[in-house]
Amino acid sequence: MFMVKYDETSWRNALGWGKDLERPFSASDATISHELIVEFDEIKNFLNHHVTTGKDYFVYVYGPTGIGKTTVLSWAINAYNGNNKLVIDFISPPTQTEIISRINRVLEPRNLIERVLGGKRRTDSIHNIPELLNSAAKGRKIIFVVDEVEKIANDSEKAKGLNDLKNIMERTHSLTILAGLANAVPHLTDSEGTRLWYNQQIKPMDRGQVIELITKRISTMGNPAKSPFSQEALDEIYSLSQGMPRRALELCNKAIDIAIDDGLEGEGRIDGGTIARAHVELRPIKNEAGISKPAVTEPRKNKPGRVQERMIESTYLGLLTKSEKKLLEYIHAHPVSTAEEIAAGLDSPKTTIWVWIGRVQGNDKERRKEGVPYPLLEESEKDGRKAYSLKNSVSSYYANL
Ligand SMILES: Nc1ncnc2c1ncn2[C@@H]1O[C@H](COP(=O)(O)OP(=O)(O)OP(=O)(O)O)[C@@H](O)[C@H]1O
Ligand SMILES: [Mg+2]
Repeated sequence: MFMVKYDETSWRNALGWGKDLERPFSASDATISHELIVEFDEIKNFLNHHVTTGKDYFVYVYGPTGIGKTTVLSWAINAYNGNNKLVIDFISPPTQTEIISRINRVLEPRNLIERVLGGKRRTDSIHNIPELLNSAAKGRKIIFVVDEVEKIANDSEKAKGLNDLKNIMERTHSLTILAGLANAVPHLTDSEGTRLWYNQQIKPMDRGQVIELITKRISTMGNPAKSPFSQEALDEIYSLSQGMPRRALELCNKAIDIAIDDGLEGEGRIDGGTIARAHVELRPIKNEAGISKPAVTEPRKNKPGRVQERMIESTYLGLLTKSEKKLLEYIHAHPVSTAEEIAAGLDSPKTTIWVWIGRVQGNDKERRKEGVPYPLLEESEKDGRKAYSLKNSVSSYYANL
């Protein structure tokens, strides 16, 4: 028996996307080319400021997994490594041995002249490093870059290494840019015990930035490459990703899988409902510590009510009040209901139902929740009265439970 027709080529053709290119939404590598980076002014200004004050201390950029920490660091390496600066980067806090071998690579002569002039400049001792670095830097400011700082928490060698780096910094007047999770700010102080670090949180992307992230990726597929996403889909990607770039890219990729399976070919064919489905299929979401935690911990059969509740809680529907959720659940079970029918079904006065409907439609300006794509209900007519059903993108949450 033939199941799903999976034809990526025809799907790509319909959008004018290059055939042999990788999908544009790979969310794994942070070392993307410079043109694909969406600018992040706040962090950029923060880093530029500390780099130009010329002081020597730690500056720490932090945020949850997938927010773009490694991307910020790769931007910084690219931006600062130049004539008057020497950038030395570490993908995670280095142990003492790793510092020594990394510095030895920096000290290696890069050409014949340096080789003749430089002589033998390797070292096996951490104590020689400041002096050697100072002479190798030739007046350039040294900037260390260290990613994944949270790893010092359960690796004492890495924690010690960070302290070695601090001593090197003090004697070479260099700056260190660190990135890591929010709860991992290293408490480093200088010899007088004063605070030696500054920190700045990386904020989630706004709607425009998420769209720019997606648009830039699509543009690598050729000219002109069309977008498979409708406006509603883009809004849904923004609200479901909560501005987290990795999640936004994962949603795009998963939605494409679904679109190809379902034969949704051509420009703008991926709608909000497809994104909502992608969101459900993508779970589990990684938590703060970067550990995959299943959203559902018990088998669904045992406790359908609680599991359903928890899965709903992890979407934007979790932002709604109890009554608003009760209303949506009722309408999910009884599509195309009038306010009278809902009132009878929920055993509440009709006026109350009108108030709840107003809220889930987003009419009550003061009670609108950020991140909820109002209106949530679709209106139709039944027996001359208004009837309500869940919008596709909302009902797909319930449908996938
Ligand atoms: N400013 C940006 N512009 C374009 N793409 C970005 C930007 N920030 C992040 N991304 C993309 O989002 C994904 C996640 O980013 P990144 O790997 O930098 O996150 P992270 O915070 O380092 O995550 P982790 O904590 O898991 O290391 C990557 O694919 C990256 O290319
Ligand atoms: Mg990272």
